[in-house]
Amino acid sequence: MLSINTQLNTAPKAKPQDESKLGFGSIFTDHMFVCDYTEGKGWHDARIVPYGPFQLDPSSAVLHYSQTIFEGMKCYRRKDGELQLFRPKDNFARMNRSAQRMGMPQLDTETFLEGLLRLLRLEKDWVPHTPGTSLYIRPTLIATDAKLGVHASHKYLFYIILSPVGAYYPGGLAPNDIYVEDEYVRAVRGGIGETKAGANYAASLLAGMHAEKKGFVQVLWLDGVEQRYIEEVGSMNILFVYGNKVVTPKLSGSILPGITRDSVLKLAKHLGYEVAEERMDIHEVLEDIQSGKLTESFGSGTAAVISPVKTFSYKDKVYQVGNGGIGPVAQQLYDTLTGIQYGTVEDTLGWITSV
Ligand code: COI
Repeated sequence: MLSINTQLNTAPKAKPQDESKLGFGSIFTDHMFVCDYTEGKGWHDARIVPYGPFQLDPSSAVLHYSQTIFEGMKCYRRKDGELQLFRPKDNFARMNRSAQRMGMPQLDTETFLEGLLRLLRLEKDWVPHTPGTSLYIRPTLIATDAKLGVHASHKYLFYIILSPVGAYYPGGLAPNDIYVEDEYVRAVRGGIGETKAGANYAASLLAGMHAEKKGFVQVLWLDGVEQRYIEEVGSMNILFVYGNKVVTPKLSGSILPGITRDSVLKLAKHLGYEVAEERMDIHEVLEDIQSGKLTESFGSGTAAVISPVKTFSYKDKVYQVGNGGIGPVAQQLYDTLTGIQYGTVEDTLGWITSV
């Protein structure tokens, strides 16, 4: 493991007073973890430093060719004040898979996990107390070669920033209206859809803007070839409930393998539901919503947690899921998952790391 130097911030900021107004991702703590990579030398100069802007050459590869990946995880405050993380090693493992696909170096996971824990201990007072709030963790890797030739970079910068957050969607757990995108696609098989690359999110922005203008919170992406099979929402994976069965689109190579998705599937099985990963045809799903066979739908993600869907709109027709409210399965999974994350439900699956 690399040694980690710490430089304290001599001008700490005031912490947010009203935790009901945190929103998502606009407030940052006083410090960040940073580490450099140089080809031939490997990772070096691991450090915790005051949060602040980087100096980047305008020709930096990340700014031109989007060679960047990230992760999202959260630090939760338990009732007894102790702090804990949820499956952090799985996030780093996924980041390594993203790095591999994006031609970036493998992480020094041991140093970065230790750096994260030290950063969290330093910033412990930034972890909010109100139920439903947490400290969002954003590990990021960017390519920093100052060169315009299209080539994988030889230099990289890894960093972790922290942001106290409330609910990702302004309505919290209130069910959302989702637009089924039938014009644009997010990703194709063989591409980078299954990585957490910034470029995937860039590809989604225009569709998101159009959907927002029409009054929708998010878009549901269909496969990039036939625009027929359900993929994901972009900020979360999507799941459907048929009575006692919880089903989600099978990982296709262009769907993000969500850690919350995996956790929800495992918890659902544990709670006695039948669980399936299948190729899901949008037409069949909409028919099942209409006939009442499909009783609930919800998204899953670190930021979004579990987010029920009220309606899907496809080609100008609106399909309301169940009675449009929070379904019992979504509620039970939300309560169990957040119970484990906040330490009120026993962690029998070994998902918790204490800070
Ligand atoms: C997360 O759930 O952590 C995400 O990364 C989704 C989104 C905020 C980009």
